[in-house]
Amino acid sequence: VTATLIRRRDEWVEALDGARSAGGTVGLVPTMGALHGGHLSLIRRAAADCSTVAVTIYVNPLQFGAGEDLASYPRRLDDDLAAATGAGAGLVFAPSVEEMWPSAPRTSVRVDDLTSRWEGAARPGHFDGVATIVAKLFGLAGRCTAYFGEKDYQQLAVIRRLAADLSLPVAVAGCPTVRDADGLALSSRNAYLTANEREAAPKLYWSLLAGKRAVEEERTRDPEDVVAAVRAALAAEPRFEIDYAAVVDPGTLRVPPHVDGEVRLLVAARLGRARLIDNLAAVSPHPSPEEP
Ligand code: PAF
Repeated sequence: VTATLIRRRDEWVEALDGARSAGGTVGLVPTMGALHGGHLSLIRRAAADCSTVAVTIYVNPLQFGAGEDLASYPRRLDDDLAAATGAGAGLVFAPSVEEMWPSAPRTSVRVDDLTSRWEGAARPGHFDGVATIVAKLFGLAGRCTAYFGEKDYQQLAVIRRLAADLSLPVAVAGCPTVRDADGLALSSRNAYLTANEREAAPKLYWSLLAGKRAVEEERTRDPEDVVAAVRAALAAEPRFEIDYAAVVDPGTLRVPPHVDGEVRLLVAARLGRARLIDNLAAVSPHPSPEEP
């Protein structure tokens, strides 16, 4: 049987309340649709952890900037419903914009500091739009575990902080990035790549691997040198227009003075019509006992 498609907020709240009052647990998977293997891995994980898997499909206008791809963002509800069902979803919430906001919101949720760099700097207002809709989705969902991909690493950090700061009854679970065999992280925006660009796209991930090697094998300790290694690898593909490359503290997303312990490598670049982002963990062998 296909997952139950719900269009109205009151019916969604009732369905999730019903699942909990029957003694079940709710796993929430918020998405903007155009579901790919990354989303399906979140749904499968939610199905492994929780008795009811509730997927939301809502292309959130608040998180798109002027000139971004709101109008062209892929929308294919029938395929999504089938794919979500196959991965274990029982409930799918796909409201219209009017259903979500009967009147335009006067409330905006902003997570300071974490949002000031990287994607936040490249896409002004983006994270306010994400935080506002996620707070609303959490409010509608009630007590649950919510699953998000590490692919959007900064988004995950922002949502964790939002849930903690506002004491929302939601446990936030981060899940590993799913990649194609050549390394390209799955993303709905990969659909914008031409066949030719698709061939070049994995080099974004390879540049992160170069950064990881610099940290872990060459024991590079200066963040600027690590970033130089990432940029040098990216330069091998002249069609990339680099937005940023960075090595950051995995919790604060700030550039550390030295690369010590675990760090996160972040990169964003344009390739043709697509803007791609990716990230990777690296663990520095510093500080070692002989190198305090
Ligand atoms: O990651 C996404 O798909 C979106 O940013 C989210 C979390 C569903 C909010 O619209």
